Amino acid sequence: MRKYRTVIIGMGRMGRTRYDAMKKHGGFDVVGVCDSNEELLSDYDINRYGDWKCCIDQEQPEVVAVCTVNAVIPSVVCYGLEKGCHVFAEKPPGRCLEDALLMRDALGRCEGQVLKFGFNHRYHYGVIEAKSLIDSGFLGEVVAARGVYGKAGDLRRQEWRNDISIAGGGILLDQGIHMLDLLRYFVGDFTLVEGFTENLVWKNAAGEDTAFVTLKTDSGKVATMHSSAIQWKHKFDLDITCTEGYIALNGLLTSTQSYGEERITYYKRDLELKSGKLGNPTEYTMCFDEDRSWDFEIAEFYDAVSGKRSLVNGTVDDAVAVMELIDRVYGKRTAP
Ligand SMILES: NC(=O)c1ccc[n+]([C@@H]2O[C@H](COP(=O)([O-])OP(=O)(O)OC[C@H]3O[C@@H](n4cnc5c(N)ncnc54)[C@H](O)[C@@H]3O)[C@@H](O)[C@H]2O)c1
Repeated sequence: MRKYRTVIIGMGRMGRTRYDAMKKHGGFDVVGVCDSNEELLSDYDINRYGDWKCCIDQEQPEVVAVCTVNAVIPSVVCYGLEKGCHVFAEKPPGRCLEDALLMRDALGRCEGQVLKFGFNHRYHYGVIEAKSLIDSGFLGEVVAARGVYGKAGDLRRQEWRNDISIAGGGILLDQGIHMLDLLRYFVGDFTLVEGFTENLVWKNAAGEDTAFVTLKTDSGKVATMHSSAIQWKHKFDLDITCTEGYIALNGLLTSTQSYGEERITYYKRDLELKSGKLGNPTEYTMCFDEDRSWDFEIAEFYDAVSGKRSLVNGTVDDAVAVMELIDRVYGKRTAP
């Protein structure tokens, strides 16, 4: 297996997660790690840097993984691309649409390089099953979807997520972005977007603790989303209504184990009522007990870098499209 010379910029929680996934995959030779907080690098017996530009210049990698805070992501992505590297970057793709467009332009000036963003929810087993059920046509066509994704945030805490100049937004940009990406994945491209954000509990926080969004495609498919930082018991629910049945995704396996068991339930429409009463039919449920999303995601990145298959998930077009939706909810803005 060809190994790509790789550096990881930003060695907080996600940097460590990506490091482990890259090691496990085997196709990345991680030669350098960088974090502005160099204390975080002491566990790594490879070249360590406090300055990301210096890290890229010195190591001359083929691959750069960008796992910094949101505000730093666009500069590192653009620099990595400029230096001829393939780049894997965390979500969100910067703080606003303008940032995402900057990265798209930078990729446009490259030839044969890969830029992928970390929308890892597409690689959860429940989501993979739902996608293959839908693509099989078994349940007809998707016409509507309703997503709820929420966590118990503490917007008083001194951390970068609560600093709007670094994070760029509140819960919608931080966590809701994953649900928006899934709604696009299952329903299609939305052209009509309406929504609002509120500070219902954390009144003085810079970012919102609540967002409600309604979406519609040109062909009339609809979706809604509730993104919350005041979901005191963590929740991930996605209902997908199809012409011939439905799919419900409930729970999500994460490192905190707080979103409950991950499961997919589906029902195929049966108007002869062989499968039970109308409105309370027999359903089929599958449960999953392992989160392989990080592995599958890095494998897709590797395959794109090595030319085995082209990128399908987390493309720059996905990044721009989802940031367009978010900017329309927040109202037009430029990078803080
Ligand atoms: N894909 C997912 O599901 C997922 C989950 C959590 C976080 N994220 C995203 O990953 C990114 C990092 O989040 P995290 O939870 O790991 O946060 P974190 O605070 O644990 O890590 C961020 C790291 O970036 C470092 N950093 C900041 N500025 C830097 C700079 N100029 N140069 C080098 N390092 C710098 C910080 O010191 C910190 O260690 C964020 O964009 C976040 O939105 C994605």
